[in-house]
Amino acid sequence: MSPPAPLLAARAVTFSRQADAGQRQPVLQATDLQVDSGEILAVVGPSGSGKSTLLRLFNRLLEPDSGQILLAGQDIRTLPPPVLRTRVPLVAQKPFLFSGTVRSNLQMPARLRRTALPDIDGSDIQQILELCQLSPSWLDRDAHKLSIGQQQRVCVARSLVGPCQALLLDEPTSALDRPTADQLAQTFRQLARQRGLAMILVTHDLRISERCADRLAILLDGAVVEEGPADQVLHHPATDAARRFLSTEPVQKEAAIE
Ligand SMILES: Nc1ncnc2c1ncn2[C@@H]1O[C@H](COP(=O)(O)OP(=O)(O)OP(=O)(O)O)[C@@H](O)[C@H]1O
Ligand SMILES: [Mg+2]
Repeated sequence: MSPPAPLLAARAVTFSRQADAGQRQPVLQATDLQVDSGEILAVVGPSGSGKSTLLRLFNRLLEPDSGQILLAGQDIRTLPPPVLRTRVPLVAQKPFLFSGTVRSNLQMPARLRRTALPDIDGSDIQQILELCQLSPSWLDRDAHKLSIGQQQRVCVARSLVGPCQALLLDEPTSALDRPTADQLAQTFRQLARQRGLAMILVTHDLRISERCADRLAILLDGAVVEEGPADQVLHHPATDAARRFLSTEPVQKEAAIE
């Protein structure tokens, strides 16, 4: 029997952008990456290396020039984008909340899809709130009056209300101070483990990768130069390119979050 397909996989994905003078500017070279259910893959690399582009390809905010992206073995082009984006939502760097309460924000995706509103007081959503460390007493607070870290937690919780299988996280901790970022990293770890989510975490912060990622990929100029267990890539990189990148981004050995 063949092993189960990874939850999310990019197979030989390339992407270019229209540049000035009608030329195409390559952004991603043949990229192979995969992440399993319950696992966190961190993607690190310098500014402009293609990290956000890569994330956007995973939920069809962009379409590859060639190659394939698979969700549980199924080509994502067979899924209508709104369906795909409820299964594979993207959480941006800056929390995006609608005006209104936390409760109405949690209900907004269903409202926009015109599907039945989720029971916010039901056990599944209460579990999501608990994992995201959101007190039920905040449900009726004005979402914009929460701290940025709390707002980011509401965005993560909102992504999980629905049939979410994987989370795409684009520098979700970069606006946060160090203790708040560490707490959110711990939340990602618990969410991955307890809800079996696959996560791709784009970050500039190697410390956060070290604390919560299972695997780590280094993206330089649109090419994955190394990918493997996070601890191994960060502390014993196999390639010169990874060594050079890591030498400019010092990371101290930190205990991983259990
Ligand atoms: N909307 C756009 N139009 C044209 N070029 C773009 C656009 N968005 C990104 N690019 C280009 O695509 C390349 C990859 O950009 P991308 O945003 O994916 O990088 P990144 O690794 O996420 O960078 P950062 O760490 O600064 O967020 C860069 O050369 C960038 O200038
Ligand atoms: Mg980016």
